[in-house]
Amino acid sequence: MAPSQAAKLLPMLLMAVVALPRGLAVFNSEELLPYVELDEAAEQLRRSLLQSSGGTVQSQSEAARAPAVPPLPQTPEEHCALTIGSWCGPYYRQTPTQRPPPKRGNTPCPNDCSGVGQCQYDFGICYCPAGYGGADCSQPRKRPCWRMDSNKRDLGWHNYTEWSHSRCAGICDDDIAMCYCPPETKYGRIEAPPGAPRGTPPVRAGRPLYWCQPSTDELGNKVMWGAVKYEDLFGRDGWCNADVPSFMCPCRIDGRIGSLCNIAVEMFCINQCSGRGDCDQGFCRCHAGWYGHDCSRRRAGLPTNTPPDYMGSKPWLEPAVTPPVAAEDPPRTKPQRVRPYIYVYDVKPDFSTDILQYRIERAHCNYRQFQHGNLTSWIGYNAYALESMLHETFLASEHRTFDPEEADYFYVPIMWACLFDVYGWNPLPRWPKEVHGPRPYGAAMMQLETVRWLNATFPWFARRGGRDHIWLTATDEGACCVFKDVWPGIFLSHWGRTEFPHTSGSQYHADNYGTGIYHRDHDGEWLDQTSRTHACFDPKKDLVVPAFKRTEHFRSSPYVGASPVERSIFLFFRGDLRLAPGQDPECKYSRCIRQTLYNRSRAENWREKYNVLLGDQATVQGDYSLLLSQSLFCLVAPGDGWSPRLEDSVLHGCIPVIIMDQVQVVFESILDMPSFSVRIAQKDMLNIISILKAISADQVQKMQDNLAKVWFRYRYLGVKMAIRDAEHVVTQHREKNGGFLRPNPGVQYAASPVDDAFSTLMQWLYARIPEIHGTEART
Ligand SMILES: *[C@@H]1O[C@H](CO)[C@@H](O)[C@H](O)[C@H]1NC(C)=O
Ligand SMILES: *[C@@H]1O[C@H](CO)[C@@H](O)[C@H](O)[C@H]1NC(C)=O
Ligand SMILES: *[C@@H]1O[C@H](CO)[C@@H](O)[C@H](O)[C@H]1NC(C)=O
Ligand SMILES: *[C@@H]1O[C@H](CO)[C@@H](O)[C@H](O)[C@H]1NC(C)=O
Repeated sequence: MAPSQAAKLLPMLLMAVVALPRGLAVFNSEELLPYVELDEAAEQLRRSLLQSSGGTVQSQSEAARAPAVPPLPQTPEEHCALTIGSWCGPYYRQTPTQRPPPKRGNTPCPNDCSGVGQCQYDFGICYCPAGYGGADCSQPRKRPCWRMDSNKRDLGWHNYTEWSHSRCAGICDDDIAMCYCPPETKYGRIEAPPGAPRGTPPVRAGRPLYWCQPSTDELGNKVMWGAVKYEDLFGRDGWCNADVPSFMCPCRIDGRIGSLCNIAVEMFCINQCSGRGDCDQGFCRCHAGWYGHDCSRRRAGLPTNTPPDYMGSKPWLEPAVTPPVAAEDPPRTKPQRVRPYIYVYDVKPDFSTDILQYRIERAHCNYRQFQHGNLTSWIGYNAYALESMLHETFLASEHRTFDPEEADYFYVPIMWACLFDVYGWNPLPRWPKEVHGPRPYGAAMMQLETVRWLNATFPWFARRGGRDHIWLTATDEGACCVFKDVWPGIFLSHWGRTEFPHTSGSQYHADNYGTGIYHRDHDGEWLDQTSRTHACFDPKKDLVVPAFKRTEHFRSSPYVGASPVERSIFLFFRGDLRLAPGQDPECKYSRCIRQTLYNRSRAENWREKYNVLLGDQATVQGDYSLLLSQSLFCLVAPGDGWSPRLEDSVLHGCIPVIIMDQVQVVFESILDMPSFSVRIAQKDMLNIISILKAISADQVQKMQDNLAKVWFRYRYLGVKMAIRDAEHVVTQHREKNGGFLRPNPGVQYAASPVDDAFSTLMQWLYARIPEIHGTEART
């Protein structure tokens, strides 16, 4: 994985951008593609696509000629192809029961959360936005810019010379540590007048001074922490003063776009507050009578028959909202339900919405964003996209319950990976406040504080010792360094490292969890409480889950209806190699696997001899999805920690060749991995060609057949945007193919959420209920 490195390079990249006369716009080109919206008939379309040959636009005779797409599975046995152990069947043998109407709370909050917070009526707890705290949100809870004075200005450009992201040469919004042009400039920020009610927006928001710090002062003296000429910011033609400035600062904060950063767009919130609230950079303020992190809950005593057009005045939210079916009162869409029942905590803002509000880039922590005209679009690539996506999937899931007493499991949606993105900007947030540890330390401490809060506030963490609590740790080294108090829970991560003892493999110091830190908040040395007490992954209780890849990412795969092409590339890998001089002197990245194989392939001319394509972006060019679809074997080697290469190969029908000693790949503990992949020990890696050549054509065919029986478990179709994306890709292939879907093996799942990654998780969790509860399942 390379996100950590990307984060390290980002500052340099952005500096380069700032230096351009007409700033920014270096987003990944993929991000600029508008998200193509399909109409409401999409669900119908999907059905017709998948029922044999897609009869809607075909004539009878065409339909008769079109070969039939294989059917979706019907029996538990059909669902459970290539699973190992006994986890898969029971879920499908359940008898559904009547879904009760959702519980509705009516416990009032102190002081009605002072008009700025959101009341959680189940418990009468205030959830406060950034800037406010205390039991009733009446206390200030600030995130000042670095070296900020009480007047929200810098303490002195020359008094302190050190640089920090959040050092502010204008005026600081100290709720979230964002910097703006000062009020005395034409496009400066003007705060709400003193004494205005809490939460009053500024009189003028002002242009942001984002990644825009001055290199000189007014008199031309050097400012040690800046890089932009004074005139370019504060001169007559500068960013803060001119209608059309000669220099543009970047505009990447959520909620505003355009080169002048003056066009208001919708901001990101988890499931966009279900269309029932106003979103403030990750914090949902629900419309009257609604509550919960996603505003899906209705306060007791209020009528439930809300108008169907609940998006109200914001029709643009529709593509981004996945209706939370479990919240319907009375239940309509899914009147019956099966277990597991999952309770999703509304996690305290400190560990959830604050982190989103502290985002400095709208593309962080996320998989989607709003563009011009509030058009919903995908974010090009975010390695940790699963965090927000999975949270939304749980909220929208029919397995969700609002009654913690009946819950089989609890999902704790802390912003673990998102914290990695915001950690470097400002000295806050930190746990403990005064310690600036590596990012895994910060995240692990935040998680520990979450458990302390859960345990002090609700009875359910202690009830089963936390064993029924589910956590996602999507970052490079997953759950390696979580505290032993949290470890009994179920960890979903992308990094299945099983060995113990273990040390951090990260080459990137900010992610290396090896540093010893003592603090009274965690009984001495943190490593003695964390990585020295457990492995990174325990296949008995944890699950390695796929990274999120939208269907467009594998659009050339035969599984989504592309025309199968000859797999003429014998072995394929494209990715980071860290070959630049000095980049990785000890060859720690990827455990030196990618680099060693790359060098050998060059030295022995594997490309010409065997048609092996192995290299980085510069040496292996072409369309990634197409290349994977043309490859027979695909290399799966680690990055700094995990790498999504297993997903890439499986989703394209390329046989994965795994070289990661003592690291399980996605679903290795629950699927018959050897039946569709090859594993090579690192010590044998230089024999990779002869090992692969020795596999018979028969065996290859078998593995390919088997890939078609599992590929769909490696993709997520739990949110509306992902489903529409899949439908769009499938529709394109269908149109190109004269109106019907090619009957490739596995194509019946092309746009179907049946047995996708989330369903797989549900099936696995269901089977584990007796063990987790220490009883037999009650159903
Ligand atoms: C910053 O330095 C100036 C000039 O040396 C001095 O007058 C001022 O008091 C200093 N301010 C702070 C906050 O230290
Ligand atoms: C986009 O959404 C924002 C925030 O809700 C709103 O202020 C703005 O008017 C919307 N823009 C358009 C073009 O609808
Ligand atoms: C949770 O609270 C119980 C009861 O106060 C305590 O015994 C237990 O140690 C706590 N667990 C954690 C992980 O803090
Ligand atoms: C790969 O080759 C480069 C360039 O010759 C060299 O600097 C590097 O050390 C080699 N790495 C490995 C792992 O062989």
